[in-house]
Amino acid sequence: MNTESMVHLVGAGPGDPDLLTVKALRLLQNADVVVYDRLVSDAILDLIPPGVSRIAVGKAPGRHSLPQDRINELLVSLSRAGRTVVRLKGGDPYIFGRGGEEAQHLAQHRIAFDMVPGITAASACSAYAGIPLTYRGLSSGVRFVTGHCRADRPLDLDWRGLADADTTLVVYMGLANIDQVRSKLIDAGLNPTTPAAAVENGTTGRQRRCLTTLDRLPDEVQKAGFQSPVMVVIGRVVALAETLDWFEPQLRAPAATAGGRQLGHG
Ligand SMILES: C[S@@+](CC[C@H](N)C(=O)[O-])C[C@H]1O[C@@H](n2cnc3c(N)ncnc32)[C@H](O)[C@@H]1O
Repeated sequence: MNTESMVHLVGAGPGDPDLLTVKALRLLQNADVVVYDRLVSDAILDLIPPGVSRIAVGKAPGRHSLPQDRINELLVSLSRAGRTVVRLKGGDPYIFGRGGEEAQHLAQHRIAFDMVPGITAASACSAYAGIPLTYRGLSSGVRFVTGHCRADRPLDLDWRGLADADTTLVVYMGLANIDQVRSKLIDAGLNPTTPAAAVENGTTGRQRRCLTTLDRLPDEVQKAGFQSPVMVVIGRVVALAETLDWFEPQLRAPAATAGGRQLGHG
C-alpha cells in the first residue's frame, strides 16, 4: 500500500507572524511534522499546534546544521512514512532559500509537493523600514543579490551592471562582505553618497535600521553592532525612509547611534 504523503514547501515570511499567509497557517495547523530553519521566528513556531512534531534543521551561519542532502533525504523519508510534512523556510523558499533544490529532489523521488510562497525579506524589511523599493523618478527597478560567498573567494557579481543609480539594489546575506559590496560598487562607478540602509531583524520587535550613505555603510553598521539577519538596501529610494517611517517595534532595542542618528526605531 502506498502511504506517501504530501510535502508542503512553505514560506514563513520574515518574522512578524502577521505576515504569514492564510494558506501557510492552515497547513501548519494540519501538519504531522514541521521541518524548519533557523530564520523562522519563535512567534511563528508558537502557531504550530502542540501535537505536531517539529524538526529543526539549523542553517545558522557558522553553527551546526543538517547538510542540504540530509534535509532532502529527511523530507523524502518523512513523506514515505505517511506523514504530512510542512517544510517551513524563512521568507520565500524560492529566493535564496534553496527551496528549488528541495522541490527538485522531491520531484526526482516522485514525492507529491506544493509550494506556498512567503513574503521575502527584501520587500518586508524595506516596507517596515519605510523604503519603497521602486519609486517613479527615483528607481525604475530592483535587483536582489546575495552577498554570500566562500570565505576564500571574492564576491563574484556583475558590479558594473549593479552600479546603476536608477535601480535599487537589495543584498541578502550581505553583512559579512559589506566592505566588499561598498568598495566594488564605488569602484564600478556608483556615487559614494548614494543613500544606503541596513535593516536588522526586520519586521520583528527587535528591528533596527541604519540609514546612511554607501561610503559610510560598513562603519555605521559595525558601530551599531548589527548582527545577522541583516538586509542591505542601496539606492535613491532609501532617502524616503525618514518621511515614510511608520514601524514602532514593540520591544525597543537598546538605543544605539549610527552617524549621529538614533537607531532602535525600526
Ligand atoms: C538564506 S537568506 C534567506 C532569504 C529568504 N528565503 C527570504 O526570502 O527572505 C537569509 C538572509 O535573508 C535576509 N533576512 C531574512 N530575514 C530577515 C529579517 N527578518 N531581517 C533582515 N534580514 C533578513 C538576511 O540578509 C539573511 O542573511
